[in-house]
Amino acid sequence: MSRLSVHVRDPQSSDGHQGTIPLVLLHAFPLDSRMWEPMLAELGDLPVVTVDAPGFGASPPASQLARSLGCPIAPSLRTYAEAVASALRAEGIERAVVAGLSMGGYTALALAEQHPEMLAGLGLLDTKATADTAQARATRIRMAERVTGALGTRATAPMIDTIVGETTRRERPEVVETVRTWLAAAPPAGVAWAQRAMAGRRDRLATLAGLSIPALVLRGAEDATIGDDDVAAMARQLSDADVVTVPGAGHLSALETPAAVARPLRQLWQRAAAAE
Ligand code: MLT
Repeated sequence: MSRLSVHVRDPQSSDGHQGTIPLVLLHAFPLDSRMWEPMLAELGDLPVVTVDAPGFGASPPASQLARSLGCPIAPSLRTYAEAVASALRAEGIERAVVAGLSMGGYTALALAEQHPEMLAGLGLLDTKATADTAQARATRIRMAERVTGALGTRATAPMIDTIVGETTRRERPEVVETVRTWLAAAPPAGVAWAQRAMAGRRDRLATLAGLSIPALVLRGAEDATIGDDDVAAMARQLSDADVVTVPGAGHLSALETPAAVARPLRQLWQRAAAAE
């Protein structure tokens, strides 16, 4: 059976946390699990698992995973969630704190809807639970068409202007260059499938209302795509959510300011581990 690429940080080295629930990190679009690397050092000895989304990093194409998981062939976040659930179970992980950034957050929300029993805690970073507007949907479909056409991954290049914050653009040019390189190397088929899946995603605010687990809702203060209203809408639904705004960070908060995002994530993990 084809399966997502999962990177498990050696639990043997996580002394004191052995046998406890892991923190699973789901990356943003159109990146892969490398985006978490700067933050891993900041998370110290927590048992962390990172996952490449279908069609990104070392993971098989989404259409192949959909077939192997018995999911509909049409692009959907539900397939991402099934693929994550199946890959975690293959690693012997039945329950975890799951945190996703932007597209990773959409996947975490779909996982919460489809497999709530797997979640011990939920981290929603620079993401939202509402569906796209008609205009946003049209923009995604346009990119899906362009990226698999003559333009190729040059179609993703303009994203650099919105996914990295002002402070990072001014003070952390190496981060901007890394993201630019990743955008240029994003796999066209994976990008197109993801855009179609995100365009079709539904409103999952009601899913949050049904959860009674520790949660974190976090946003980079300079995030140009997620607003305070998106954060407030999610926090209102959750029964036990910490809300954090990270100064000096944009949409890719965990990459831009890894230490400032690692702190509340570690606290989320501690709250969830204590409640297990
Ligand atoms: C992401 O960072 O994953 C994207 O901004 C998600 C999106 O396009 O909505």
